[in-house]
Amino acid sequence: MSSATDKPITVPGLADARRAGRRLAMLTAYDAGFARVFDANGADLILVGDSLGMVVQGHDSTLPVTVEDIAYHTRSVARVLRRALLVADLPFQSDATPERALDASTALLQAGAGMVKLEGAGPHKLAAIRFLSAREIPVSAHLGLTPQSVLRFGGYKVQGREEAAAAQLRADALAVAEAGAALLVLECVPSALAAEITDASPIPTIGIGAGPHCDGQVLVQHDMLGLDSGHRRPKFVKDFLAEGGSVAGAVRAYVQAVRDGSFPGPEHLY
Ligand code: KIV
Repeated sequence: MSSATDKPITVPGLADARRAGRRLAMLTAYDAGFARVFDANGADLILVGDSLGMVVQGHDSTLPVTVEDIAYHTRSVARVLRRALLVADLPFQSDATPERALDASTALLQAGAGMVKLEGAGPHKLAAIRFLSAREIPVSAHLGLTPQSVLRFGGYKVQGREEAAAAQLRADALAVAEAGAALLVLECVPSALAAEITDASPIPTIGIGAGPHCDGQVLVQHDMLGLDSGHRRPKFVKDFLAEGGSVAGAVRAYVQAVRDGSFPGPEHLY
């Protein structure tokens, strides 16, 4: 799908894609083998997500993941990417202060990431986004069902269903952009709310369980390939391997469905 002449995706290129109305297809990857296939078959962004704690390490949550874990997988993925922009997650509490976030982000950028992602929009998170952005570290925010908040949420639940929570999410989305984030991941929020946030957002949005109106979509690679992760299968997941016939075919089918707006479909929405 992508060719050797395709230019690498850059941070300013994310805003260009939004202006051009070209939806962004993002996938998680944790190793060189899958990352190479995802990159060669059109994924625009690859995320070394702290979901690796659950799908690679077998934990029940993302909380045990360390900066060194993310850095190790980031190095493996970075070696093989030719076109996709590599985003690496700041794991639990590595962004508890701006200084810690700077140390962790520096390690992840030195491991090969082109952007870091952090969850939430509390005051210390906004301070971290501001601190990193001012120090030449591109940041993606992540709102909605932020898995690092699982203990406070009491499980992996759709966020923003009640008006007060929806209003908070709308305000948070503007706040992270104002603090300097260049991208916003919205996870498990009602489709209509994600559409409103996307319309009001000055930065591109990437949805996961957030409906079709975001500027792009992301899926965890195991979910996109229909692998049983041992956890309850969320409603927004689609097995593209069944349709694509091979890992490369699955990625092409996913990227095509994101670009033409056919994924997520009505059955994947909240
Ligand atoms: O860790 C991860 O894989 C993520 C995605 C679900 C967006 O944050």
